[in-house]
Amino acid sequence: MKATAVAPGKTILVGEHFVVYGEPAVVMAIDRHVHVTVEDRVDRSLAITSDLGVTGTFIDDAYTAVKGGEGGRRVLEPIKTAAETVLTAFEEARGLTITVHSTIPPAVGLGSSGAVAVATVSAVGRLMGRDLSADDVIALSTAAETVVHRTPSGIDQAIATYGGVLVYQKAQGIIRLPTASAIPLVIGNTGIQRNTGVLVEGVRGKHDRFPEIMRVLNAAANHVSRQFIDALTRDALPQLGELMDINQGLLMAIGVSHEALDRLVYAARASGALGAKLTGAGGGGCMIALTTLDDRDRVAAALQRAGGTPIIAQKAERGVHSWIHA
Ligand code: PMV
Repeated sequence: MKATAVAPGKTILVGEHFVVYGEPAVVMAIDRHVHVTVEDRVDRSLAITSDLGVTGTFIDDAYTAVKGGEGGRRVLEPIKTAAETVLTAFEEARGLTITVHSTIPPAVGLGSSGAVAVATVSAVGRLMGRDLSADDVIALSTAAETVVHRTPSGIDQAIATYGGVLVYQKAQGIIRLPTASAIPLVIGNTGIQRNTGVLVEGVRGKHDRFPEIMRVLNAAANHVSRQFIDALTRDALPQLGELMDINQGLLMAIGVSHEALDRLVYAARASGALGAKLTGAGGGGCMIALTTLDDRDRVAAALQRAGGTPIIAQKAERGVHSWIHA
């Protein structure tokens, strides 16, 4: 038997970094997806084939590389862990062939690893004939990611599970936000690798050295997120764009932007975007530009000229879904 699950990637619309200090962040699923297909095997191994440039087989903790060398283990370990987490939860022991195909660029803050974990959990659950609830999928995929990363907030898993738009705040948890607009974006990938932990630490240093200033910036970010949520419910796109520009100013103030991001942000604005800002951890990775549908191609061309890789994207309403192959 064979089962497939598909889960979307994500982008943070507003509130990154400030969310660490209790302010709300707004996260949107994008129409870039991870597809995971799982199939029973006669032996007990987990054989993982991917278009991430690596392929290999795990038998318990022993890894045999097929493509990508020993280093591929690090890439495939989260997929193995997600599959094992579900098998262990239901006290099943079986071998699986797992095939992963992704259109989400990895390691640039677009939720690739969260989507891989969620799709793997859903596909394995489906193959075992279990109808996992959204809460089950989030809990199992977050547990699996905790083994691999340090302490995920669970937001990437939640958005890949639910799709649409979510508001996340430490004190309140996750709230789904129904929105009418497709929210057309152009994502600009700088191609610069960054380390989320290092950037979060950098902001922590600013808090230690300038506590009064950071308190004021946090309060401003709180207002930006709240007014953004209000504008989203009214579908007021120009206002959303302006608030994204203000948010970018705050992110620059706390030191997480980057020359390459700034270049793309200004290029997007100059070519008619409604607003533009970095998304996720900053320091490289991606920026997002909000556009009208008419201006989207022009903004994408401007990002390309400014040295970025443009990705046309919009809201993915549907979260993870899975099926058994006939
Ligand atoms: O790198 P990303 O897109 O997963 O975003 C990190 C978001 C931060 O607010 C910087 C960190 C966090 O854990 O919320």
